[in-house]
Amino acid sequence: MSSVLEALKSRSSKRAYLPKPVPQDIQEQILEAAGMTPSGANMQPWVTYAVSDVDTLKKVGDAIIQKMDAGIMNDQFIQYYPVNWVNPYKKRRIITGSGLYKLLEVDRKDNETRIEMWKDNFRWFGAQTVFFVFTDKANIDGAEGVLIDCGAYMQSIMLAAREFDLDTCPQGSTTEFGQVVAKALNVPDNLALLYSIVIGYSDKNAKINTYQPQRVALKDTVTFV
Ligand SMILES: Cc1cc2nc3c(=O)[nH]c(=O)nc-3n(C[C@H](O)[C@H](O)[C@H](O)COP(=O)(O)O)c2cc1C
Repeated sequence: MSSVLEALKSRSSKRAYLPKPVPQDIQEQILEAAGMTPSGANMQPWVTYAVSDVDTLKKVGDAIIQKMDAGIMNDQFIQYYPVNWVNPYKKRRIITGSGLYKLLEVDRKDNETRIEMWKDNFRWFGAQTVFFVFTDKANIDGAEGVLIDCGAYMQSIMLAAREFDLDTCPQGSTTEFGQVVAKALNVPDNLALLYSIVIGYSDKNAKINTYQPQRVALKDTVTFV
């Protein structure tokens, strides 16, 4: 993998992985490069837990699935998805979701399978390395700027991963259970989970990994003046 454009174009969210952790020296190279992400006032507000211990990953995932099974929809620090979906974003969400279900031949009304597929997030799609990214609660108390910084950090990780032919899946699903993750990982009280990123060796034979949602035309998102 050489250019930034190639990394951008070859990245896509993968949702099936081989049960193989990412060696720590590669994790370090990725996280060191991602640490060069710019941030307002050079705050570097990201606090990352890089977890490759299968028992710990299972503990975190099981804790979330237990909450879901108890009918709890979220237990979070920040609200990631819009509370009121409006178009064109609502439409894009529906197209993206239904495209995936269509590829996997899952019926629109088959809620059980859909929920199981969502729960796969918390089995880390079979991967054995997950980065959990937190920030200090003080940083998001009455301000949202660090969310911009940490979003850029997310993309840096995902692009740097391509250099090692690794794939990723960013997860807002864990954002929704941020309090559960924080408790299960036993992080200091001042930290709030923002998101996680599954990282690893994607299963090249898995049908789900062929899914590549299209983007809208440039004219729909950009105004040249
Ligand atoms: C912040 C963020 C949160 C996301 N959360 C999830 C998630 O919890 N589970 C999942 O399967 N995909 C998740 N995605 C992946 C998006 O669905 C995906 O990026 C989008 O459909 C575009 O597809 P692509 O990444 O393959 O280009 C997330 C993406 C972002 C940027």
